[in-house]
Formats: sequence, C-alpha cells, structure tokens
Amino acid sequence: MSETHTQALWWASESFWRKMAIWVTAGSFVVLIFLTFDTVKQITAGTKRVPAYANALNHRIDYVFDAKRNFQVPVIGVEEPLFGKKLTEEEAEAMVSHGKLTTQAKNCMNCHTLLGNGAYYAPDLTKAWLDPAWGSSAAREQAMVDFLMHPELAAHNALGRRMPNLGITEDEARATVAFLKWMSSIDTNGFPANFKPIDQADAAPVVEPAAPAAPAQQ
Ligand code: HEC
Repeated sequence: MSETHTQALWWASESFWRKMAIWVTAGSFVVLIFLTFDTVKQITAGTKRVPAYANALNHRIDYVFDAKRNFQVPVIGVEEPLFGKKLTEEEAEAMVSHGKLTTQAKNCMNCHTLLGNGAYYAPDLTKAWLDPAWGSSAAREQAMVDFLMHPELAAHNALGRRMPNLGITEDEARATVAFLKWMSSIDTNGFPANFKPIDQADAAPVVEPAAPAAPAQQ
C-alpha cells in the first residue's frame, strides 16, 4: 500500500525534478539568447530609440512632452549641425566614438552617471547637452568645449562641487561634446525624470519623432 502511495506522488519524484531542472535551464537559455539579440537590435544606432550618429549631430535635439507616454522624449529637429559642419554617417560615428573613448579613458563615470550608470558625485550626463546652464543654445557648443578643457576656471552650476582639470585636449573636448549631443537624442523612457531642457525655441521644432528634418528653410 505504501509502495503505491509513493509512486502516485509523481511530482515528488527525484526523476521528475531532474527533468524539470534540465528543461528550465534549457528554456531560460533559449529565452536569454532571444533577449540578447533583441537588446542588440534596440540599442543599435539608427533604430527607433537610438538615432543614427549623423542624424543626431546634424540636427537640433528637441525635448518635448509626449502626452501618451507621459514624459519628455528627444525628437530630431531642424538642421543644426554641430560646430556648424554637416557630417556624413562615417564622420559622425568616428567623432562620437572618439568622444566615448575619451569618457572611458578619463573615467568620467568615476564621478558622473551616463544613462544612469556610474557614480553619484557629479550630475548625470545623459541630457548634459540640453542643460540650461550652458546659457543659450548658440553659446552652448563653445561653452561645453571650454568647460571640458578648463572646468576648474568657473563654477558651472550651483552644485557646490568642482570638476578637476582632466587634461582634455580640444579635439577630445569637441568629440566629447558630439558624444554628449548624440547621447541626449536617445529615448531613455523619460530618464532622468523632471529634467528641464535649455530653451532652443528660436525656430519651430519638427514634432514627428525621428523624422529627418526638412532642409532648413530660413
Ligand atoms: C573627479 C570627479 C569628476 C570627473 C572624473 C569628471 N567630472 Fe564632470 N563634473 C564634476 C563635477 C563636480 C561637476 C559639477 C561642476 C559644477 O557644477 O561646477 C561636473 C560637471 C560636468 C558637466 C556639466 C554637467 C551639466 O549637466 O551641465 C559636464 C558636461 C561634465 N562634467 C563632463 C565630464 C566628462 C565628459 C568627464 C570625463 C571626461 C568628466 N566630467 C569627469 C566632476 C567630475
């Protein structure tokens, strides 16, 4: 009688749990492979959330409230080439990648967060390009280059902490600005929350998400 009873509990048998372990491991493995490919697709430049390098660098990045999603999203606006020079996709990618390498070589994440990753001593840099503290959008590019090369010369905002001089060359500073401009164009689901962007309202923004801007009509 007790023999039959043990056999009836199929779900408590060792062989059942061994099979379960194998199936769950194999199933998770397949799901992880799928998620890995899906993530790579979502974070590649030139896709819905992450604009192509030249698209971001050659246009204004507007930051507009999306009522449906209930937060602000970056929108590619009118043509407004970084440092006044329109770049090809190859040139733009090289510049952004030089800037990214600079942020890695100088370990900006030791103090800052980028897309939320890093340290909390200094401000998050995800939307640094859109920070009103640069003054006007016209003065911004040079102000950022000057600040990155000589952050010790002027307090930038009212944070009460100062960024040290990291020996950044002008080339590296310009590339870093390109990297920051491109990063600000990434749709981060509204991160960081409650960010107030710089006023760039000197021309009407194009409101179609990621629409390549019509050639400037001024
Ligand atoms: C030792 C810490 C430290 C390191 C390393 C550092 N920073 Fe900073 N950074 C700061 C602090 C502190 C501030 C705020 C300064 C102020 O408000 O005057 C700041 C401010 C900034 C700002 C202005 C932020 C904004 O939203 O307007 C930018 C841009 C910036 N840093 C970029 C960088 C980059 C790029 C690197 C790496 C190349 C870097 N920082 C490395 C401490 C650091």
